[in-house]
Amino acid sequence: MSQCENCGLSKSRNRTVPGEGNYDAQVMMIGEAPGSNEDKTGRPFAGRAGNLLNELLDSVSIKRSQIYITNTLKCRPPSNRDPQQTEINSCEPYLALQISLINPSIIITLGRFSFSKFFPNITLSKARGIVREWNGIKILPMYHPAAALYNPSLKPKLLQDFQQIPSLINISSPSISDQPQKYPATQVSLFGDPFE
Ligand code: URA
Repeated sequence: MSQCENCGLSKSRNRTVPGEGNYDAQVMMIGEAPGSNEDKTGRPFAGRAGNLLNELLDSVSIKRSQIYITNTLKCRPPSNRDPQQTEINSCEPYLALQISLINPSIIITLGRFSFSKFFPNITLSKARGIVREWNGIKILPMYHPAAALYNPSLKPKLLQDFQQIPSLINISSPSISDQPQKYPATQVSLFGDPFE
């Protein structure tokens, strides 16, 4: 991928941003395209949208090391403009290969560009938060975290959509309103209360 010259973005990029995470991940997240931090570091979601993504993952006690994160485009569009269809087509074989190698049970699309790869005829505002099936893989579309940075009213919707993830992959998670527990459920002490 780092040698790729399939589209014009190869001329302006500093680094390709292939994706990173757990190769055995049940959850794969697909964003839009690298921005300037990603182009400098070679890592996906390394800037402000990435900080919000980390916060959303924290809300359901999922670590980035448990999932695999990539983008529709592997190179930064100049000035962060929208991806062009020719660029999406040039990059598509890489994404297809990543999906087949990781073989996730659920793909979370972040934003409209990654969603439209799977369901080109449905609008994201209608689809968001609803699980659909694509080639035996669950697809859960969500708004892009960067959209919530510009429009804070989208953040509660993202938090709500993230709440679905643990049940889809059979791990338990605290609900948003849960308070930290003083007594972990498994705590058993024969020698008095260690928290007092
Ligand atoms: N960073 C990424 O890696 N992808 C996006 O879609 C946005 C920011």
